[in-house]
Order: sequence, then structure tokens, then C-alpha cells
Amino acid sequence: MISKPFKVIGNLKMHAVGGLLQQYADQVGGQSFGLLVPAPYLTLAQSLFENTSIWVGAQTLSSHGQGARTGEFSAKIICDVGIETVLIGHSEVRARGEYAPEQIKQANNERLNIIYCVGESAEAYEYDQMERFLTQQLNDLSEFDRLTIAYEPVWAIGSGQVATIDHINKAIAVIRSVLREKTSNFDEVKLLYGGSVNNKNCLEIAHEANVNGFLIGGAALDVEKMLEVVNLCR
Ligand code: PGA
Repeated sequence: MISKPFKVIGNLKMHAVGGLLQQYADQVGGQSFGLLVPAPYLTLAQSLFENTSIWVGAQTLSSHGQGARTGEFSAKIICDVGIETVLIGHSEVRARGEYAPEQIKQANNERLNIIYCVGESAEAYEYDQMERFLTQQLNDLSEFDRLTIAYEPVWAIGSGQVATIDHINKAIAVIRSVLREKTSNFDEVKLLYGGSVNNKNCLEIAHEANVNGFLIGGAALDVEKMLEVVNLCR
């Protein structure tokens, strides 16, 4: 048990999760958390979770409005299927050249909730450039309502190497101070940590880091582990 409101969100990335979503629906009790599912599963997930407290979000969106862009899906499409939240700026999405500022604009046009990922690369970490890196990424934000920020150092994602509490707290302080300059609502923006969080390390991070929740990749592919994280961090 922890003594602050805490959000847990799973990012199921590009995995074939039809069976896993069914397991979530079968095994969840009253726990409330989010799952960001691959786009083709959005409506299936919503109907499977209809009578649960699991909410469903998208993992990315097009940088463009509607039109002749085969294979892409827009903010409008996400809204049209009843989804309210989208992840933007995950390092795996940035790495393939998708442009976060335009995606943010599109999501804001449709008043979607945004979970915006920021985090320094391994190289920036090594050369102590975290602050510069985060400040640059945060400069892409234009609206601060409906915003959650996930601090995910790139070197911690999927590596089994969790950032130290001290490092997380430094990064969170940088993010808060940049937000303070940009918006009077800076205190309302929830800040998550992501990067190799699992059922074994979650409690210590939840207690000691100044975060309001977790973004979880690998461990969310195992229903029992994910539910354990959610139960521990209530
Ligand atoms: P991980 O992924 O928990 O497997 O490190 C986190 C993420 O990519 O959001």
C-alpha cells in the first residue's frame, strides 16, 4: 500500500495480445489501470473491459488529419472509436522518425488525453545531458490540460536496468521546473516513471520516487505480474 494516488498504465507495444486481453478480462477484480493496446485491438479491448475498471488507450497516432494516408490512423479515428487517451513520444516511436510536435497538435485538436514520453538516451545519460534533453523534449508541448508525462530514460526501457531513485527524482524535478515556467497548472500534471518496472521493484520506486504512477512495458505482458504491481501500488 502506498499513501498517494497512483496510476499504473501498461504499454502492450506490438504484441499479438488477443488472448492476453481475454486473460486480463477474466482475472481482473476491481483494480483500476490503463492498457495501451495495438490499434487493431482497440475496440475488442473496450468491449472485453466494459464491465471492469481497465481503461484502454492508443499507443500513437498520425501527425496528420484525415485523408489519403494508407495505414495511418488519426486523432479523429481514435475519438470516433471512443478512445480518450493516446501515448505520444515513446522512444520507440521517436526512433522511427514520427514527429511528436505534430502528433501533439493533432491530439489536442480532438481534446484527447495525452501521455507524453520524455527521456534521455544512453549517450545523453553518460555525458550528464539529461536536463538539456528533457527540456528540449518538453518544449514541444503546447497545451497542459489533459496531460500526463512519462519519464522514461531510453537506456532503462526493456533493459532490466531501472534508473536509481536519485536519478528519477532529479529528472522529475527538471520536468516540474520546466512545467512551472510554462503553465500555472504545473502541479496538476501527473508524472510517471517507466523503464524496467516490475512486480519486484515497483514498491520501492513508488514509495521513494516523486512519481504519480508507472508506465510498464514487459511486465504488462504477464497478467499476474501486472495485477501484482497494481495491487501493490494502491
Ligand atoms: P519496459 O518498457 O517496462 O519493458 O522497460 C517500458 C516502456 O517502453 O514504456
